[in-house]
Amino acid sequence: MIKSFSGKSASSLKRTIHVPLGERRYDITIAAGSLSLSGEMIRGAIGDKAIRAAIISNRKVHSHYGSEVEKSLRQAGFQTITHLIGDGESAKSFRTAQKAWGFLIERKVARSDVIVALGGGVVGDLAGFVAATYLRGIGYIQIPTTLLAQIDSSVGGKTAVNHNLGKNLIGAFHQPRAVLIDTATLATLPRREMRAGLYEAVKYGVIADRSLSDFIQNNLNSIVNLDQHSLSHLISGCCQIKARVVTRDERESGLRRILNFGHTVGHALETVTAYRRLKHGEAVGYGMKCASEIARKTGIITAPDADTIKHRIDALGPLPRIDDLKTAEIIAALAHDKKVVQNRLPLILPTAVGSVVIRDDTPAAVVSKAVRDLLAGRY
Ligand SMILES: NC(=O)c1ccc[n+]([C@@H]2O[C@H](COP(=O)([O-])OP(=O)(O)OC[C@H]3O[C@@H](n4cnc5c(N)ncnc54)[C@H](O)[C@@H]3O)[C@@H](O)[C@H]2O)c1
Repeated sequence: MIKSFSGKSASSLKRTIHVPLGERRYDITIAAGSLSLSGEMIRGAIGDKAIRAAIISNRKVHSHYGSEVEKSLRQAGFQTITHLIGDGESAKSFRTAQKAWGFLIERKVARSDVIVALGGGVVGDLAGFVAATYLRGIGYIQIPTTLLAQIDSSVGGKTAVNHNLGKNLIGAFHQPRAVLIDTATLATLPRREMRAGLYEAVKYGVIADRSLSDFIQNNLNSIVNLDQHSLSHLISGCCQIKARVVTRDERESGLRRILNFGHTVGHALETVTAYRRLKHGEAVGYGMKCASEIARKTGIITAPDADTIKHRIDALGPLPRIDDLKTAEIIAALAHDKKVVQNRLPLILPTAVGSVVIRDDTPAAVVSKAVRDLLAGRY
């Protein structure tokens, strides 16, 4: 029986999604209150050989949830050791990874042991990268605690640290052995972080599932008020799409690129604002609006469908201002995008609410005009 944080039985809300990647297969378990059973679940995923569980987290998340996870791990027979990293994007660095490797070496963590990533996408990406590289790779578990990490970064095995010259440039594909999502952890998440995650949820609906998109639009209040049924439906819907895409294209040679809908212009906005003004999800919100406008201008989507997508993004609330940014700066950042091949920039463009195409033939003038109008708040 799984207990929810409100004390009620939450077993009816438990959902399991399989990620069928052959010998790298794993399950995503979504259940309110599941932190208290994390030890048992991790033991099931990692097996009996593991003696130590090395938790990687940050001070903020650990103060809320660390002791519960540690207690549960001990009950499942693990010795626990905990390494806390700094908070924020700057902690996703080679320096932080180096300290974490040192911690693991000094504590003689063995290849048969397990790393447990407890936190948002920064902790998950960093801990996953450390797990991918320590002793040429050891098992790790994701326990994501932000909405963004629960619907996106904890699933799919992309791990990374940032380099001075760019974000996520150093990394590895390393699938977790399990993903445990306790939706009750969102109770302590700041509202802006919650909203930032919701932009990524909107993304899933637009790229692959109109009914999920409709669900978000029709249940926004209950989602932001943390109704556990709505959260469970939302998170499992997003994870199902991510699991399906990753299973068909684990290393992003084709289909997986659709997950980058909104990320091209979004990333350019993050770059020109030095990652300080916009949360990642907020930048993606702007990026999705811009991609929808480009699709409308080039006749890939009907005007009413483009408007629906834009309204669904606007429904999440006001985004930080960008009207002081220069179109030329954004265009310059787009030219440096790592996805540019032979001067052609692939864009993920919606054809309807629920489907997208990848096009690299959009005229530069159309992109410029869409960016200029985005900055000016014309759509
Ligand atoms: N690997 C992937 O596929 C993938 C996909 C998308 C994004 N990412 C990465 O994810 C990162 C962003 O992740 P994020 O949005 O989760 O940011 P984050 O990890 O920085 O977390 C946001 C803030 O919320 C705090 N926090 C986390 N959980 C909390 C909780 N339950 N209660 C209170 N506070 C909590 C964190 O300490 C932090 O201050 C970026 O580095 C991005 O590159 C990776």
